[in-house]
Amino acid sequence: MADYVAAIDQGTTSTRFMIFDHSGNEVARQQMEHEQILPRSGWVEHNPVEIWERTRSVVATGLNRSHLAAGDIAALGITNQRETTVVWNRRTGRPYYNAIVWQDTRTDRIASALEREGKGEVIRAKAGLPPATYFAAGKIQWILENVDGVRQDAERGDAVFGTVDTWVLWNLTGGVRGGVHITDVTNASRTMLMDLRTLDWDDELLSFFGIPRAMLPTIQASNAPDGYGQSPDVSPLAGIPISGILGDQHAATVGQVCFAPGEAKNTYGTGNFMLLNTGSEPVRSQHGLLTTLAYQFAGQPPVYALEGSIAVTGSAVQWLRDQLHIIGNAAESETLARRVDDSAGVYFVPAFSGLFAPYWRSDARGAIVGLARFHNDAHIARATLEAICYQSRDVVEAMTNDSGVRLEVLKVDGGVTENKLCMQTQADVLGVPVIRPKVAETTALGAAYAAGLAVGFWRDTEELKANWNQDQRWDPQWDQATREAGYTGWKRAIERTLNWVD
Ligand code: G3P
Repeated sequence: MADYVAAIDQGTTSTRFMIFDHSGNEVARQQMEHEQILPRSGWVEHNPVEIWERTRSVVATGLNRSHLAAGDIAALGITNQRETTVVWNRRTGRPYYNAIVWQDTRTDRIASALEREGKGEVIRAKAGLPPATYFAAGKIQWILENVDGVRQDAERGDAVFGTVDTWVLWNLTGGVRGGVHITDVTNASRTMLMDLRTLDWDDELLSFFGIPRAMLPTIQASNAPDGYGQSPDVSPLAGIPISGILGDQHAATVGQVCFAPGEAKNTYGTGNFMLLNTGSEPVRSQHGLLTTLAYQFAGQPPVYALEGSIAVTGSAVQWLRDQLHIIGNAAESETLARRVDDSAGVYFVPAFSGLFAPYWRSDARGAIVGLARFHNDAHIARATLEAICYQSRDVVEAMTNDSGVRLEVLKVDGGVTENKLCMQTQADVLGVPVIRPKVAETTALGAAYAAGLAVGFWRDTEELKANWNQDQRWDPQWDQATREAGYTGWKRAIERTLNWVD
């Protein structure tokens, strides 16, 4: 019997291959970054061929270094950056254009036209999403309208669309030699094209964007007992069923074992995404949150979630490193910020892709406010970490207002949780304890859980819950007056970023 389960985590900045044992402990990890292509202000692209090559490479090297054989691995799960859009030719395997990344704002005119034409309400009601540049449908429309030959090929069924899960799965299962064209409900729920109730593509939504149905993958549950497909014999993964697919934030929800309504997790990656399990019914947000799928296990009803999506979190720290050059690596953001006791009235709103939840303002752009000659790089670093925390406070406020339930503790994961000052500040800003599990790679773990449940490697979710162990806890230290004064300043800073672009 195989003793391990593996996962591919294709994220915004890197691709990971990880192997876990039955207790959910990490056994092996291999990771590679890929290029962020920034052709113009607001445009963000990835090269899909590079993404596939790096995926192949981390799988081969990861397996090799682990000294495990395919026979030791019971199942493979795929998790991915969501919304990022690839359109390729199924006969040649070649993409027509770079992947348009979720952060890209080139479709702002498409999004605002939807609202003007009164289609926004239909999209909210059916797909649970506000029209925004973030989601895949506008990106597909842009490719259909701006790249020669795609529309004819799409109508013939040769040009096909996939989010990154679909692109990776198609290639893993043979590509032009019979690759399967499938996505799961969580990824499909990020397109603005799927009806949350039928869990199928919706013709009216497709017509809003002029997208032929023939382009779209088949939507399936987030795990599959018989596998979605097999890798060809030449692959190091040959023989391992590919039996789990979840968008990365949904995978982290599973990895954090948020299986009961009312349970939430907050993942700090390139962006920052809080998901609250709302059970078997989709809950409509009145306060700027998205309605989405948490997961759907094969043969079971779907489980829904409310999501607060924040575009810029880890990428704000990267901006300090790559554009301002005031730190050499992410960890230095903590050392630099600790040189001062507070940000001394400075606020940084990193609205690089406009503002996502709960504001949904594509006309916003970033701002640093409250500067005096006195301030230095340490204050900017501290304001960056505080911004990460205030953004999550905005989302927690919206969740409390939507659900009426007060958060008692915040479960966190993701790279930024290595930053102890940031997590302490998060507890201070929210006024609730922040806790992190021992296995912080909850995204890959969640994809492994979905795949392993499908093949009986884990019996049920109770077994997964027993794997969750607390590692770190941060308790609030600020008094209430400090907390509220800080948040009032943040709200004023947000006002300064609005109406910046037409
Ligand atoms: O919706 C975008 C999200 O899936 C990206 O996640 O971890 O790559 O920032 P991450």
